[in-house]
Amino acid sequence: MEVDAAGNLFGHVPVSDTGTRRIWTGSHLDTVPQGGKFDGALGVVAAIEAVERAGRGSVAVFRGEEVGCVGSRARVERGGLPDAFLEVHIEQGPRLADAQAPLGIVTGIVGVARGDLVVEGRAGHAGTTPMDVRDDALVKAAELILRIRETASSIEGAVATVGRLTVEPGFANVIPSRVVIAVDARAPDRDRCQRLIETLGLEPSYRTAPAQMDAGLRDVLRAEIETRGLPVVELASGAGHDAAVLAAAGVPSAMLFVRSLNGGVSHSPEELSSEEDVELAVDVLAGVLARL
Ligand code: GLV
Ligand code: MN
Ligand code: MN
Repeated sequence: MEVDAAGNLFGHVPVSDTGTRRIWTGSHLDTVPQGGKFDGALGVVAAIEAVERAGRGSVAVFRGEEVGCVGSRARVERGGLPDAFLEVHIEQGPRLADAQAPLGIVTGIVGVARGDLVVEGRAGHAGTTPMDVRDDALVKAAELILRIRETASSIEGAVATVGRLTVEPGFANVIPSRVVIAVDARAPDRDRCQRLIETLGLEPSYRTAPAQMDAGLRDVLRAEIETRGLPVVELASGAGHDAAVLAAAGVPSAMLFVRSLNGGVSHSPEELSSEEDVELAVDVLAGVLARL
């Protein structure tokens, strides 16, 4: 096992890969607060099992995916990248279940931009300040959040989320003087990402470009899925992934999604995939590793 300077872990099979393509497969082990058991960890466990079965490839475990892909981003800056990267991941949506397909091939990954919008108001006494003279930053923030939703809804395929508000001074009997609105905005291609960011007036502190998955690797995934008599479903990812970071750095990358149950819920303890679907994903991944 190897740990790089960013804290990413790499596990290698005890046979020499010399002369063959360097293939990494894996995902991340961190989760969001009160997250599920599959987002990230599934791709690591599947990679360990598939590398062992195939006797090929290396397992890559990236650090801090949920806080901005810090591990994979540090790694691509540092270099020492593989010839290909494969990531198994829970779908985190309902589309494979709707299509009655256990597995899906990812076509591309959305671009993600995160940043803060700040709303200023004027602090005052909650009991003595008449309603018509207030400059309440939180009321203005509420109106802005509704506009953020309208903006994202007006751009096909775009989404925007406010997941955190910081209210100052944050005391029940003080009119809020300042609110920091944390915005997460996403769109499937560069143009729409740019339009979304500009319309929101966002200055992103974190940004990943939309990424296309490698056509050749997708073909290999398709062949392995077809060989098993399973339906082939291709779908875009609305979640960010380490595979997008590697793809943007020029590493041919592909992702295999595993059907989500419970309506596709994710970033929640209710996140679920079946053992049977996970086994199919491991089998397909091992087949792909053996072919490459
Ligand atoms: C990762 O979970 C993301 O935010 O898409
Ligand atoms: Mn996640
Ligand atoms: Mn993930």
